[in-house]
Amino acid sequence: MRIKLAASYGFCFGVKRAIKIAENTQNASTIGPLIHNNEEINRLRENFNVKTLHDISEAQGIERAIIRTHGIPKKDLETLKQSKVEVINATCPYVTKPQEICEKMSQEGYEIVIFGDADHPEVRGVESYAINGAYVVQSVSELEKIKFKCYKVAVVSQTTRKISEFLDITGYLQMRYKEVRVFNTICNATFENQDAARELAKEADVVIVIGGKNSSNTKQLHSICKEYCADSFLVESEKDLDPSWFNQKQLCGVTAGASTPDWIIEKIVGKISEIKV
Ligand code: F3S
Repeated sequence: MRIKLAASYGFCFGVKRAIKIAENTQNASTIGPLIHNNEEINRLRENFNVKTLHDISEAQGIERAIIRTHGIPKKDLETLKQSKVEVINATCPYVTKPQEICEKMSQEGYEIVIFGDADHPEVRGVESYAINGAYVVQSVSELEKIKFKCYKVAVVSQTTRKISEFLDITGYLQMRYKEVRVFNTICNATFENQDAARELAKEADVVIVIGGKNSSNTKQLHSICKEYCADSFLVESEKDLDPSWFNQKQLCGVTAGASTPDWIIEKIVGKISEIKV
């Protein structure tokens, strides 16, 4: 069986940057997981004494706080800054962007729509910057239920969402409201990994998607691969591999979510190459 890696996979710019910041800072605590990858978080704790706090309520007494790639709610950031904690901000610049847009547009009187998952930390953070709150929706049917108070609407997206679905949302709004400001805040790193995963899944007999099971962009990659290759499996570590997946297969495609480090990918590819088909 041949193993082929996607043309683009794994760590994105924002995650690489956050890990560098954490490695350089050392002896610090992150508010929430720095990135969505448990193995990398364990490595940072063991090698650099970077601990993960569940949330800001656990931050009392810490000296240094690193803000994770997905960002945190504005009031939590302000609380940290007002305390004696040294704050090192590793929020991805592509996440800071929709935060800034929500703040600015809500100050200008626009109602804010965020296309994304209301329970995702990135979205909770972005939403907190809208001065009068925001509507978080995942579909046009959710949008249909909203009664906007004015005719000015600004819309942003969670960075990891599909562009086609974002266009459905923005199209709906533009048909119905006089003044709609659309900000495409979907991250290119997501596109690149998604496009490459799609191409790979078209030709592979089995696809292994490597990444955290709680990582939104890894789950998206998995769902794209499944559209083109039914035998697509999401694994977090080599322990999740099931040899029966590879029976009679000629080409195994491998891709990885945006917060999956190379050392995990190498380990898993090594393990796959040992499997007898
Ligand atoms: Fe940032 Fe995009 Fe990565 S938003 S954290 S560069 S997937």
